[in-house]
Amino acid sequence: MSSKTRVVIVGAGGQGRIVADILLAGAAASGLVPVGFVDDDAGRIGAVILGLTVQATTRDLRDVDHDAIVVAIGDNALRQRISLALEAQGERIVTVAHPVGSVGHDVVVGRGSMLSAGAVVTPCVRIGRGVLVNTRASIDHESVVDDFAHVSAGATVGACVTIGARTLVGLGATVMSRCRVGADTIVGAGALVVRDLPDGVVAMGVPARVIRRTT
Ligand SMILES: CC(C)(COP(=O)(O)OP(=O)(O)OC[C@H]1O[C@@H](n2cnc3c(N)ncnc32)[C@H](O)[C@@H]1OP(=O)(O)O)[C@@H](O)C(=O)NCCC(=O)NCCS
Repeated sequence: MSSKTRVVIVGAGGQGRIVADILLAGAAASGLVPVGFVDDDAGRIGAVILGLTVQATTRDLRDVDHDAIVVAIGDNALRQRISLALEAQGERIVTVAHPVGSVGHDVVVGRGSMLSAGAVVTPCVRIGRGVLVNTRASIDHESVVDDFAHVSAGATVGACVTIGARTLVGLGATVMSRCRVGADTIVGAGALVVRDLPDGVVAMGVPARVIRRTT
């Protein structure tokens, strides 16, 4: 029996490209082999991205030979919805990590999470399901990042921080140690979070101030 796992990437946009790149960089070592994309947009079928073809719509995923999937959709709420729906259909979702990066001891990474090139996760961190830790982001010790959150490229999450479910920590933002950021919140690009932020707000600036609710 082959030890290779054939992986379909769900979503052929920007995050799909990042995941394809992760899999192409690490396929030999991880045993995860990308076989192509599916996408909700039928207009993308046949497109070739990084040598991988968009084979079908997500609805027709079953027509594509595969063993597992990664849901590579940048929108946090949509990624959660599609992940849960596909899992309910019996799909197996795998976790992917770029070989250039560092994951410390006693780190738990939930299924379907994606660690991009240069991501650094130090000891005793808990990362939930379907979380994006993007290029060169770092998460320091004993922090908790809840399901379907996104720590964007270059963001710095200090120690003992909590990031709520579906929250976006924007490009290059910093969350100081011990801060708690609620669920469904957006931390603007470049922000410096020095105090706790509640659920469902947009905060930006240095220091970060709440400017409005997300809903
Ligand atoms: C904070 C944010 C959510 C605000 O979005 P928005 O409400 O649509 O805001 P607008 O783009 O209409 O800008 C409103 C004002 O805030 C300013 N602004 C926007 N984002 C800002 C930021 N991150 N920091 C400081 N000021 C910002 C704009 O310059 C504008 O100022 P002005 O009124 O003086 O012209 C958004 O700009 C942001 O930073 N999102 C994170 C994006 C990101 O990092 N994604 C990661 C994946 S690529």
